[in-house]
Amino acid sequence: MSHTLLLSVIFAALTFSLLLTGESQDFTKSIPSESLGLGEEKLSHLHFYLHDIVSGRNATAIRVATSAISNTSATRFSDVLVIDDLLTVGPDPSSKQLGRAQGIYTSASLSEVSLLMAFNYVFTVGKYNGSTLSILGRNPIFSDVREMPVVGGSGVFRFARGYAQARTHFIDWNSGDAVVEYNVYVFHY
Ligand SMILES: *[C@@H]1O[C@H](CO)[C@@H](O)[C@H](O)[C@H]1NC(C)=O
Ligand SMILES: *[C@@H]1O[C@H](CO)[C@@H](O)[C@H](O)[C@H]1NC(C)=O
Ligand SMILES: *[C@@H]1O[C@H](CO)[C@@H](O)[C@H](O)[C@H]1NC(C)=O
Repeated sequence: MSHTLLLSVIFAALTFSLLLTGESQDFTKSIPSESLGLGEEKLSHLHFYLHDIVSGRNATAIRVATSAISNTSATRFSDVLVIDDLLTVGPDPSSKQLGRAQGIYTSASLSEVSLLMAFNYVFTVGKYNGSTLSILGRNPIFSDVREMPVVGGSGVFRFARGYAQARTHFIDWNSGDAVVEYNVYVFHY
């Protein structure tokens, strides 16, 4: 056996044993993106209104936690609300429904009214029906425009990344009910 051939045999044997080891231990592997049927990545702009109803019998935002400091805090620091807020095409709550915003927000700043938002948009119309986008971000509600990251998505929004911009369209200072305009920009497939 020539020297070169011997080396080739040893190399092949090593490679084979590595493959075997890989097979028995690895739980991840690279796959071509076509295997998930992914086409071109695209950028979508979504525009809608969120109805945050904190008062009355039909409230969709419910305070579930508070603490000794909340009542004396100028920012109601540490209050936690669970939301299932309506999303519509226009600012009128009777305009076409697009889905819900489901999740929680909490007052997370001692010095200004700023919320930690952690919620999913759950879309219920057309090809978006059942698809979601996940938002996790900071919402200083008295700023004109608040920007929050889109950290992911499901359904047509698999692999989503982007950002959401919130503007208060209307707020009833007595009840706290608000209509918030959202512009959402997402990359997805
Ligand atoms: C709650 O919703 C029902 C059904 O849409 C409506 O008839 C009622 O007026 C609402 N109540 C309040 C307090 O907004
Ligand atoms: C805060 O104030 C509300 C309304 O006055 C009261 O019901 C609640 O018990 C208070 N909470 C605490 C933790 O003091
Ligand atoms: C959305 O999907 C649900 C569950 O699959 C279905 O019951 C519902 O009719 C669909 N709605 C629309 C508007 O397509």
